[in-house]
Amino acid sequence: MISEALRKARNFEAQYGPHIPAGERPAFHATPTIGWMNDPNGFSLYKGEYHLFYQYHPYSNEWGPMHWGHLKSRDFIRWERLPAAMAPDKDYDMAGCFSGSAIELPDGRQLLLYTGVQRGHNSEGFLQDIQTQCVAIGDGVDYEKCLENPVLEGKDLPEGGSSIDFRDPKLWREADGTYYAVIGNRTEDGSGAILLYRSDDALQWEYVRTVDRSYNQYGRMWECPDFFPLDGKRVLLTSPQEMTPLGLEFHAGNGTVCLIGDCGPEGRGFVRQFVQAIDYGLDFYAPQTLLTEDGRRVMVAWMQNWSTTGAKPYHCRWFGQMTLPRELAVKDGRLYQNPVRELEAYRGRHVMHRNIPVSAEVNLPGLQGRTLDMTVTIRPMGNEMYRWFRVRVAKDGEHETIVRYRPSDGTLKIDRTRSGLPHDIVHTRSFLVRYRDGELKLRIILDRFSLEVFVNDGEQAASAVIYTRQEADAISFEAGGPVLMDVEKYDLVFEEEE
Ligand code: FRU
Repeated sequence: MISEALRKARNFEAQYGPHIPAGERPAFHATPTIGWMNDPNGFSLYKGEYHLFYQYHPYSNEWGPMHWGHLKSRDFIRWERLPAAMAPDKDYDMAGCFSGSAIELPDGRQLLLYTGVQRGHNSEGFLQDIQTQCVAIGDGVDYEKCLENPVLEGKDLPEGGSSIDFRDPKLWREADGTYYAVIGNRTEDGSGAILLYRSDDALQWEYVRTVDRSYNQYGRMWECPDFFPLDGKRVLLTSPQEMTPLGLEFHAGNGTVCLIGDCGPEGRGFVRQFVQAIDYGLDFYAPQTLLTEDGRRVMVAWMQNWSTTGAKPYHCRWFGQMTLPRELAVKDGRLYQNPVRELEAYRGRHVMHRNIPVSAEVNLPGLQGRTLDMTVTIRPMGNEMYRWFRVRVAKDGEHETIVRYRPSDGTLKIDRTRSGLPHDIVHTRSFLVRYRDGELKLRIILDRFSLEVFVNDGEQAASAVIYTRQEADAISFEAGGPVLMDVEKYDLVFEEEE
């Protein structure tokens, strides 16, 4: 049965979504049908297709009572719009259907596990949320919320856990048929923890253990966990709120953290060994992964930062986009990320320039555009070490987005100060790349309203949203001191939707 609230959302998106011209959206990054999008939810394989739900408020370009929007794809690149999957329409989720995950059940149905939010007054009269975990089951389009809801609530928390901050379940099924879920929680020290639950049917859950916790070191509340084995390690992803900066690794506010470790003594635990940021750019939050049929662990995230959501074009009809899905690997205790290989099927015109000497600003034939896949490799010329190197993209007389490398301190900087956002927000971010005697490889993916940089074959990634007008499509290179450069560029070519 489709509730009144869901019917209203579906009618609204069907009526107004198609009015947004395809050219006003990214060509291949997922966006909401209309209105607001935040976290990816339920990113999973269902009946051979990739489903991507998202936190959704169709009625404005602001966050509001959370619905689940719905997209699906066969290749992570072309997304088909499906009707909104859930609306806040039960007493246990009236204040929002918050983030969660999805899985294909053995009987062929699709199960969504999400956080239901209710709002009430606490003993001091203040409004506060109560968060519980809830289930909806459906056929890939329509979902029925279960009578058993909520399936996890305050009484299922370990001692000291908070039911005000208990959210974002990510579930999976082990080979023996047991379901597990990791869920974010706030502990008695005020900071985050990731709790592990198990179940035989995905409806009745029991607490197993705490996988890891912040101890106020990596931010406060830990949101949106994911936990999976990869390349002989176990990887825990989480998005902490209220982080304090740590060198150039972590910045203040909402961040993302990847913890890499081993199984504990009982085999299903987690012993943390390495901690790093997931993405070093300006816009990245709440990543979620799936496992493809050919065994790839693919991650997608909200390409946005909560602190800058107020900065958007006046009257925009959609707000929020997802990153390009990325293939993950672990090497030498580090998380590697590279664009899904499916992107290569959309490569069009190819331009290659080798051994180009760069010092004063150069523009090269065939190099421009806003929807492209470009790899720039640089090295010092002779024995002299250059002082800096810059790539400028999305450029015209007024605009530019700059990626700058400085070998003396090994920093890469993303600068979108002149990228079409007339707002006083953070526009630059610098981070340390591994020093390689001035050799550096940057793969830059542009898709109209964003730039994603993959450093040294995926050792690091950095994402940023830009709003530069599309006519600003020049690309140039410049160096302080002599640099030798190779550039390979493919246009990415898509037939526009009607
Ligand atoms: C993270 C988050 C989640 C929550 C959702 C609400 O961005 O705050 O913790 O479930 O967004 O929209």
